[in-house]
Amino acid sequence: MTLDIIESELQKPSIFKDESKLSIDYVPPKLPHREQEIRKLISIFRAVLENPMSISRKVVITGDIGTGKTAISKFFGEKILEYAKKRGLPLKYIHLNCRKHRSTFVLLNTLIRALSPKFPERGYSHDELLSILRGILAEKNVHVILTLDEIEYLIQFNRQDAQELIYSLTRLYEEEMNAPQRISLILISRSDAFLSAFDESVLSTLQPSKIHLEKYTEEQLFDILKDRRDMAFYERVVPDDILQMIAEIAAPRGDARYAIELLLKAGKYAEQEGKTKVIPEHVRKAKSETHPAVRKEVLRDLSKHEKLLLLALARKLRKSEQVYLTMGELEELYRILCEELGEKARTHTQIWEYVQNLEKFGIISKRLSGRGMRGKTTLISLPEVPAEILERELMRELGISE
Ligand SMILES: Nc1ncnc2c1ncn2[C@@H]1O[C@H](COP(=O)(O)OP(=O)(O)OP(=O)(O)O)[C@@H](O)[C@H]1O
Ligand SMILES: [Mg+2]
Repeated sequence: MTLDIIESELQKPSIFKDESKLSIDYVPPKLPHREQEIRKLISIFRAVLENPMSISRKVVITGDIGTGKTAISKFFGEKILEYAKKRGLPLKYIHLNCRKHRSTFVLLNTLIRALSPKFPERGYSHDELLSILRGILAEKNVHVILTLDEIEYLIQFNRQDAQELIYSLTRLYEEEMNAPQRISLILISRSDAFLSAFDESVLSTLQPSKIHLEKYTEEQLFDILKDRRDMAFYERVVPDDILQMIAEIAAPRGDARYAIELLLKAGKYAEQEGKTKVIPEHVRKAKSETHPAVRKEVLRDLSKHEKLLLLALARKLRKSEQVYLTMGELEELYRILCEELGEKARTHTQIWEYVQNLEKFGIISKRLSGRGMRGKTTLISLPEVPAEILERELMRELGISE
């Protein structure tokens, strides 16, 4: 029986040549329609490339969701490394995501460990970490181009710490005369509003160059999709007019991630149905199952219990017609879910922290109860995202079958 199942599944035609080319972390070898921006980035770093220790550069990259901010900086990083290797230049590129590493403390530790993998996990203070960083950079004699991606989250989690981190990184070699410069910064955010969270002193040491990425047009999305199709699918599986259809759906947002996700999901539907071709109905299904506000990597990077709490919320809001749950109701549902799954439920204080985190990530919203309810309690709702889609994605993330 089991073998039959395996065999009959394997006999279905495979339409994917390499599905990983559509995964969220994949950076393609070509980034159509971003050549100019990448060239600009390189030209900003020209002096660093010519003489790595002579100067430090700061850049802010902004642009809406899915406009290629992460992709162009990682692409730039790869090219820099290749170039540095070829020329024997002491340059390193390190890319850290501030949504994933939620405090300056974790960020600094991760940065140090990226440079010196054996660095012990001990409770050093911020200042100690900085001097350790300075020491390691000097010892290795390198210049690091550090990207802090989604920096708005660092500020949301702790504005003061974020400010101190940026300030100290920009002034790492302030006290020494003619000291070699060993760190450059690329800060990435949807908008440059985060800069207004910084004091004048930080802004004046930062003075970044700016690169803004416009939303992709329908034609540009089509080109991006075409490259990915050729890498991910066998020939003739996805005709051009299907790509056109996806580009048209994603165009109002100008979001390449959404477009690529639709292509992947449409392919998955075709595969499930044992078809050798993707048809418009697969795209329509993919569209109804995908919400551009549910970013897979955001869900992926939540802690397990944040996922469980969110799942408890999504499940209840899908089944009931309630607009929101009270904090008490949510906590209760979360405890039941934990029990079902044999997980040890976290404490009230931790749950409260999860709720605050989920709000910072823009997934849930919370407010205090007003009139008509006894006492004050926190009300939690899901304003943006269909509960059903969220529930399905979370179950997939947590490895729970339906
Ligand atoms: N010009 C491009 N060519 C090919 N693929 C691209 C291009 N721009 C973006 N992509 C792809 O689209 C997806 C989204 O891009 P990316 O992650 O860089 O967006 P982002 O601007 O960082 O979005 P967010 O603000 O949500 O972090 C990625 O899979 C990326 O590889
Ligand atoms: Mg990004």
